[in-house]
Amino acid sequence: MKSASQIRQEFLDFFQEKGHTIVSSASLIPHNDPTLIFTNAGMNQFKDVFLGTGTRTYHRAADSQKCIRVSGKHNDLEEVGRDTYHHTFFEMLGNWSFGDYYKKEAIAWAWELLTGRWGLPKDKLYATVYQTDEEAESLWKQVTDILPDHIMRFGEKDNFWEMGDTGPCGPCSEIHIDLGPERCDKGHIPGHVCGVNAGCARYIELWNLVFIQYNRKGDGSLEELPAKHVDTGMGFERIVSVLQGQRSNYDIDLFRRIIQGIEEVTGQSYAKAEHQVAMRVIADHIRALTFAIADGALPSNDGRGYVLRRILRRAARFGRTLGMTEPFLYRVIPHLAEAMGAAYPELLQQQAHCELVNKAEEEGFNRTLDKGIELFESIAARLAAAGETTVAGEDAFKLYDTYGFPLDLTQLMAEERGLTVDLDGFDREMENQRNKARQSGKFTMAEDQTRWETLAEEAHSVFRGYEVLETPARLCLVGEDPDYWQLVFDQTPFYAESGGQVGDTGTIRADGREFAVADTVKLNDRIVHRVRKAGPFPKEAREFQLAVAADRRRATAANHTATHLLQAALRQVLGEHVHQSGSSVAPERLRFDFTHFEKITAEQLAEVESLVNRVIGQGIAVCTEETTHEEALAAGAMALFGEKYGDRVRLVRVPGFSAELCGGTHVANTAQIRWFRIVSESSVATGVRRIEAVTGDEAFRMADAESRTLDELCGLLKTDAGQAVARLQSLLDDLNKYQKELAKSGQDQAAQQVKELFGRIRQAAAGRYLVARVDGLSMELMREAVDKLRDQMGSGVAVLGAVTEGKVSFVVGVTKDLTGTVQAGKIIKAVAAEAGGGGGGRPDLAQAGGKDAAKVDQALAVGETMVKELLG
Ligand code: ALA
Repeated sequence: MKSASQIRQEFLDFFQEKGHTIVSSASLIPHNDPTLIFTNAGMNQFKDVFLGTGTRTYHRAADSQKCIRVSGKHNDLEEVGRDTYHHTFFEMLGNWSFGDYYKKEAIAWAWELLTGRWGLPKDKLYATVYQTDEEAESLWKQVTDILPDHIMRFGEKDNFWEMGDTGPCGPCSEIHIDLGPERCDKGHIPGHVCGVNAGCARYIELWNLVFIQYNRKGDGSLEELPAKHVDTGMGFERIVSVLQGQRSNYDIDLFRRIIQGIEEVTGQSYAKAEHQVAMRVIADHIRALTFAIADGALPSNDGRGYVLRRILRRAARFGRTLGMTEPFLYRVIPHLAEAMGAAYPELLQQQAHCELVNKAEEEGFNRTLDKGIELFESIAARLAAAGETTVAGEDAFKLYDTYGFPLDLTQLMAEERGLTVDLDGFDREMENQRNKARQSGKFTMAEDQTRWETLAEEAHSVFRGYEVLETPARLCLVGEDPDYWQLVFDQTPFYAESGGQVGDTGTIRADGREFAVADTVKLNDRIVHRVRKAGPFPKEAREFQLAVAADRRRATAANHTATHLLQAALRQVLGEHVHQSGSSVAPERLRFDFTHFEKITAEQLAEVESLVNRVIGQGIAVCTEETTHEEALAAGAMALFGEKYGDRVRLVRVPGFSAELCGGTHVANTAQIRWFRIVSESSVATGVRRIEAVTGDEAFRMADAESRTLDELCGLLKTDAGQAVARLQSLLDDLNKYQKELAKSGQDQAAQQVKELFGRIRQAAAGRYLVARVDGLSMELMREAVDKLRDQMGSGVAVLGAVTEGKVSFVVGVTKDLTGTVQAGKIIKAVAAEAGGGGGGRPDLAQAGGKDAAKVDQALAVGETMVKELLG
């Protein structure tokens, strides 16, 4: 039997033979595409090529792409585990043509691979085509020997593929396989007839060949693309299960290895029918979690992080049915790394980090889970008391959404008590939420209003800014939007914003005039200079002189090199798990986000700072060189989480200390950074810390400001810097002592005041009462007073009002025996309303604030009338 790895390799080899460049999987986190939560198809990384805004050096490509489909247009989460062929995370095998071959080759090669190389039975295969795609249908007949009646037409839903609500799309042709009548899982549904696209597990889709020829615009219309492309995708786990003759994706070698790991960790057996769904869910979810975290995602409360959090909760909750009450998912990760680390080395590199994140998240969830179980108990008790047997859809959804209880588990728990769940109600809630998610997960591109004009053929800018800050240049491309000129030159010293480093500013001179460059950005590999419009721009000038604002660039370079030193120092002081998760390098300051699980102590921070300053003091020459990705990694260079790099990479080294792949601009020698000072250290998310720091002039400025503050403090404290701390401490000690004394005397006074109130208690027919104004008492002391009054009265009502430090407060207390007649909550409402406020509480004790201090007496009078009436 062929292993999954062999099958993956055979796919790639096949397309390499057909002239395809094998590329690596893009990160699961779509860099530069904030509109997509996770990479959800192999074509994502080529979106710009399809839209005609980007190019590659090759016209044919193939790969195995990591995908997650749990949000937006393509969402399979609810299916996972219940059936045997849906996944949250899966690998998509794909081949692409960028304006090169089209339908004929795509169809012929797919057929050749499936039936020729892999020997799938031709009479079991079916091809679907888009209802109006005559061309595809006749090509199937011409270039393959598929049975003619196995070619079928379907409509938009099945045979028109779209990436999202907008973007590249086109008709598609799918290949399905008939796995035999015994595989049907919908036999129990009345009227079900097995067939292609009929929804049962007998006929499953293997491969989708999309003929990309349109761009779906924001208004829903289709725009013809400048060229036609092929985009195919084949579910890797499915094709492996077919080729290995397995009934389930989870039975292929790759998954068996993970499930064995789960068996080891949980001590349970997959052979037991009642454990299978749980184990499949865990096997699936641990892949999604680990791959996403290895690419730099983290569980959190919104967006992508929230999706991960829900996946983890679903897995952890299923773990409970296997008897796992302590965190355990993280212990499955080593097994996953063993099963898939060879094909995806990031799993091995990030293994420790992934385990830490999972463990911390599971620990947090176990606490929530116990609260969810409590909620379920209270729902069940409420139903029992009311003699009802249906758990409301809203409740089931709350358990699902807030406490991470998958619906089937709520059902299971309900069943155990003879209850059922309102599934329709649950679906309605779920649909509401989906709609909301769809709104936020839309794949849209902001409509660009720029009008472009090409002035010279070769509109690609060469970046000269590593060597020089000034160059003459020729204008190649001009874009105009309502506010800016966007200028592309044949060469430029301006650095375009990327890799966290801000874009350069500076000037452009032409025809004796000067224009300020407000920002520099990258657009499809072109360096675009943005100049705020103020009248016409001399497009026809023969030569332009470009000059970067040198001081700003120098300060930025110092901060960028310092960021590299900071990362190296953090790894030395805190450990090798430290990995960059984000950074921002500007002239004024630098910000560095990295993976680490604890607060960093003041000592560690000081050590990091002094390590960086030592390297600055050593005046080490910074080396930059071009090399291959492999060589750079072999030399121990740090790369970004899941970042894609071309074949040639730029390696920035501070010999003996730091080596990173980086396209940014740096100082020539560490001494030029002059001084590095950490400004703050904080937490951004579970497992991610942030350090902000300054260098050079900015560090000196900060030190100046600090020393001025210290001078002022010393002036106020009437002492010198050496004695300032001791002096301040003794002042604070004194203050503390006085505050305590003051509080004590306040309490004594209050006690005295309450005693005086005892004398003013009145008697009514049904009980005693007191209504009084007690200005100066805090809310807390008022409550205490009410307690004492209730004790004193035995049976009665106390209504107090006060203006204390300008604030109006009321408290009402009723002894328990009288709450049938007088409710504190009702009285406080009427009283507070009189003084423009509101509040509430229990029948025996309520409190409120008021707005109008002048109306306190009036309000208390209202209270007195009410109490008197109620007590007869
Ligand atoms: N992009 C196509 C899909 O995801 C191949 O199905």
